This record gives sequence, C-alpha cells and structure tokens, in this order.
Amino acid sequence: MTKIARNQWYVAAYGREIDRELFARTICDEPILFWRTESGEVTAMSDRCVHRRFPLSQAPSRLAGDTVVCGYHGFTYGSDGGCVAVPGQKRVPRTARLKSYPVVEQDSFVWIWIADPDRPAEPDPTRIPRAPWLDAPGYAVASGMEPLRARYSLLVDNLMDLSHETYLHGGYIGTPEVAETPITTEVDDEAGIVYVSRHIADAECPPFYAESTGLEGRITRWQDIEYHPPCLYLLHSRIAPVGVLPPETGPDSDAFHVEVVYAITPETEHSTHDFWSVARDFALEDEKVTEFLRENNRTVVLQDVVALDRLEQVLATEPEGYQELSINIDAGALAARRILQAMTAGGTLAETR
Ligand code: FES
Ligand SMILES: [Fe+2]
Repeated sequence: MTKIARNQWYVAAYGREIDRELFARTICDEPILFWRTESGEVTAMSDRCVHRRFPLSQAPSRLAGDTVVCGYHGFTYGSDGGCVAVPGQKRVPRTARLKSYPVVEQDSFVWIWIADPDRPAEPDPTRIPRAPWLDAPGYAVASGMEPLRARYSLLVDNLMDLSHETYLHGGYIGTPEVAETPITTEVDDEAGIVYVSRHIADAECPPFYAESTGLEGRITRWQDIEYHPPCLYLLHSRIAPVGVLPPETGPDSDAFHVEVVYAITPETEHSTHDFWSVARDFALEDEKVTEFLRENNRTVVLQDVVALDRLEQVLATEPEGYQELSINIDAGALAARRILQAMTAGGTLAETR
C-alpha cells in the first residue's frame, strides 16, 4: 500500500499550461479541471459534472466567458464551481456545486491545496515552499514535466540519493566522484525540511556542466539538496574550477550556479507528475545553452523514469514484508520517508519503501 499525504500544497501545473482552454489533470487521485478566468486568475474545480459525471474537460464541454458549460446536458458553472444554470427549469438546485480547490500561482507553478476530507485543515498559502529562481531576473530556465508510472515515494528516494548519478546517468551528469564522496544529512524537524550535502573537491566535469559552462578540466562540485516534503525538491548545484571556493564576503561570482527544482506530485497512488526545472545564473542570453540543458536534463529525467517505472512493477508484484538493506548514502531518503510517513498520518510509506 502507498499513501498520499493530504492537507498539503502540490504543484498542479506550470502557469503556462493553463489558459482559456479547459485543462484536466488528476492530482492525488482527484480529477481536476483548470482554466483561466477572463481576468487571468487560475481556477480549479472537480472535472466531473454533478449531473451525470460527464468530464467537464471533455468536448463538447466549453468555456463561455467566466462559466463552463457541460457538453452533455448543459449544466453551467461559475468560476467558484457553483452551478448557475440548468436546462429545462429556472430553479438551480442548491446542492449543484462542483468541489473547488484553492490555488496559488507562484514561482512559475500553479499550486493546489489537496484537503483531507476526514480531517480538513485551513490552507495557508504562506507555507508554500519557494523556488524563486524559476521566475526571477538573473536566471535562465529550462523546464518540463514527465509522467511517471511509479509511486511518488520512489522519485523522492531517487532524488535524495544522488549517488545513482554515477551509475544511472553516467556520461550525462554522473562521474565516479559522486558515488565515492560521502554525504552529510540534516533534518529540521520543526520546519520539516531535509538537507543533504555532498561537496566534491576535485571531480571530473560531466558533459552536462562542461558544455553549459565551457569549463575545461577538473572542477569542484557541490550538491546541496533541500527537500520540502511532500512536493518540492531543490538541488543547489555549484560548479567551479578546482580550488575555487566561495569568498568570505561578497558574491560567489567565480562559480557557476544551477538551481535544479523538482516538483513531485502524485497523480494516483502508483503514478506521479515529475515536474523538472533547471535555472542557471550564467549564459543568460544564450538560447543554445538553454536548449542543451533542456535536452540533456530531459534525457536524464527519462533515464530515471525508465528505472522507476520498472521498480514500480517489481514492487507491485512483490510479497508483503520484503526487507530492504540501507547504507550511509540512504540517510537523506530515510529521513524524507519518516517525514512523509508522519504527513500521511500513520500511513505505510516507511514500511512500503
Ligand atoms: S452530465 Fe453534465 S449536464 Fe448532464
Ligand atoms: Fe536521476
């Protein structure tokens, strides 16, 4: 069994995905309809008509101004999900209302609040973790989303332990030094954040960084992970020639910085939306670098997708109670599992890996 943490904010989409078209996406097992009002606000409501459950994202359902008209028998809903017209009668039943969802547009993402119907909590937009690089001057961004046919905890495991770069992503972002270098792990229980750091003093420069930065020769490579369960994962990556460390004061201008952001959103208990973004603070105007990083990172993400989809099949067919073996490199992933387990309120994530 896997469980999804509720009473949480999740990334539902990039803001650019939602416009004056009906857009559907399943988030945490809930089919949700998104569209932008005429004034540009994103709205989110159930994608099932209250009448006979016809998906409102399905043609010939359509937007008419700031209402959506069901394509089956014409029930019409406003941007708050309330039904404003039904066919054949004047009176609209009071209960004719679609479930609507709180949304916040921030840092290029559309965040959505997925409530726990058994223990509803007030959504607090100030608790949404930030990824300012995705929508700030001074950074150039490449991003995308890949569907994963695997439970979201497998992607969390994958991202918390980057020693896999050496093996799964050799020739792209992996070099031998990543797996060879030990990590430090810290957990801020109060804030619910897991930090994992790996600072490599002298490493081969993988093609991902050699081609984007133009650096030749060996590098110092820092990976500082910050995971805000359940949804947001940040990898602060610092690349510089060997021996070039950040100055005591002032900007770290002799290094290249790449902010890698993943938003990990369950689609169902066994599938995941894998939103990935790569923001850099160099070669800002160079479209070729953006294209290179987009292609290269997408390739790397797809290598993970293949591995995790396969792993999901293995887990799904395995008898209950199989015991994994963990070592030092797993400290971050184990800390993340503990927090996720608490978030699912006595769920079984930790038992089920
Ligand atoms: S199913 Fe939508 S109006 Fe009948
Ligand atoms: Fe990976």
